[in-house]
Amino acid sequence: MSALQKMMGWIDDRFPLTSTYKAHLSEYYAPKNFNFWYFFGSLAMLVLVIQIVTGIFLAMHYKPDAALAFMSVEYIMRDVEWGWLIRYMHSTGAAMFFIVVYLHMFRGLMYGSYRKPRELIWIFGVLIYLVLMAEAFVGYMLPWGQMSYWGAQVIVNLFAAVPFIGEDLSIWIRGDYVISDATLNRFFAFHVIALPLVLLALVVVHLVALHEVGSNNPDGIEIKKNKDPVTHIPLDGIPFHPYYTVKDIVGVIVFLMVFSAIVFFAPEMGGYFLEQANFVPANPLQTPQHIAPLWYFTPFYAILRAVPPLFGSQFPGVVAMGMSIVVLFFLPWLDRSKVKSIRYRGPIYKIMLALFVVSFIGLGYLGLLPATPVATIFAQVFSVIYFLFFLLMPWYTSIDKTKPEPERVTG
Ligand code: HEM
Repeated sequence: MSALQKMMGWIDDRFPLTSTYKAHLSEYYAPKNFNFWYFFGSLAMLVLVIQIVTGIFLAMHYKPDAALAFMSVEYIMRDVEWGWLIRYMHSTGAAMFFIVVYLHMFRGLMYGSYRKPRELIWIFGVLIYLVLMAEAFVGYMLPWGQMSYWGAQVIVNLFAAVPFIGEDLSIWIRGDYVISDATLNRFFAFHVIALPLVLLALVVVHLVALHEVGSNNPDGIEIKKNKDPVTHIPLDGIPFHPYYTVKDIVGVIVFLMVFSAIVFFAPEMGGYFLEQANFVPANPLQTPQHIAPLWYFTPFYAILRAVPPLFGSQFPGVVAMGMSIVVLFFLPWLDRSKVKSIRYRGPIYKIMLALFVVSFIGLGYLGLLPATPVATIFAQVFSVIYFLFFLLMPWYTSIDKTKPEPERVTG
């Protein structure tokens, strides 16, 4: 027995190292037909690591104080060695996180990955998405630029629209009557520790649930239904390591090429990743002409603005915005189709999914623009389509003409 084997034996008697490695990597059988859509889960993990590592270094130089925050970020950009790189990686990482997660969620919609037995994977995913939005929102406030300040003002004021308790609620969130140093301090605490902890815990349970039931695949059929009678290994499964560890490296390389191109050549991305107005220090006495959230929030912002106020209160819009995310939790029970994957679904689902994507992107675009009367009408139409995609789903998925699923995975 080699020294290494002896050491592994020693560890295994005290800690389940080899058995965990086998259960989750070398003897974890994943469907053999994953396509590029399956890169985005591992890429989301990569971005999470990038954000945590660059975030730790930013926190070493950043000052969560309304009098110093803006200048400390400029100091990081100009004087801290490689500070500009760390900051651009973190700001680009935030935007890329949303791109990767949106594509990851869209894959779920295409292949019915949220369906039984993966409901909990999906629910944990929606929770991850919510926490990710909160994390991005509080993080955006930290540079204490004009948009940090006024964006936070607009969003925290939405809580004031809640009947009866709204006013107190918004003061409780801010810790002050306006966005102030107290708000910055607590948002910093949320951004660097509270929310990342929750996010990490949710990613762990997301993956534990995934490994309990096994991955879905582009055919949407369960590989566990066809097992080798002797070994009990799924006939259409391949060990995650080395097959998918190596395949995922391809995704990582392509991702890092795109990521580096943005970080080095277009870190502001024309104002979409870092807004121009945020290079101006926060000024509580001067409201910017046009306040728009970053692009990854704009679909929901457009839904908020599409709903007309009731007796001068924005509350109905706030409820609609909240519901547009809450409805995602119910998806596993709204879909009544006999098949999971879009490959075997009928035309109605395909049309509804296409309309949904067009509406979501349309809302995202409209949320960036000032709310003109024409833009509001479009936002209202897109909002209605957004909700109908979910609310009519039990009906259209049950009448849609599906194709028969194959017995074994294809490709
Ligand atoms: C930090 C964010 C996230 C990370 C790190 C993450 C990680 C992963 C990983 C590694 C996988 C397995 C690989 C793959 O199928 O691509 C996976 C699967 C899955 N994720 Fe996520 N995820 C995240 C966010 C989300 C969100 C926001 C949702 C949905 C709302 C979601 C829903 C799913 C589903 C349904 C599966 C199973 C897919 C299948 O088997 O076809 N995830 N996730």
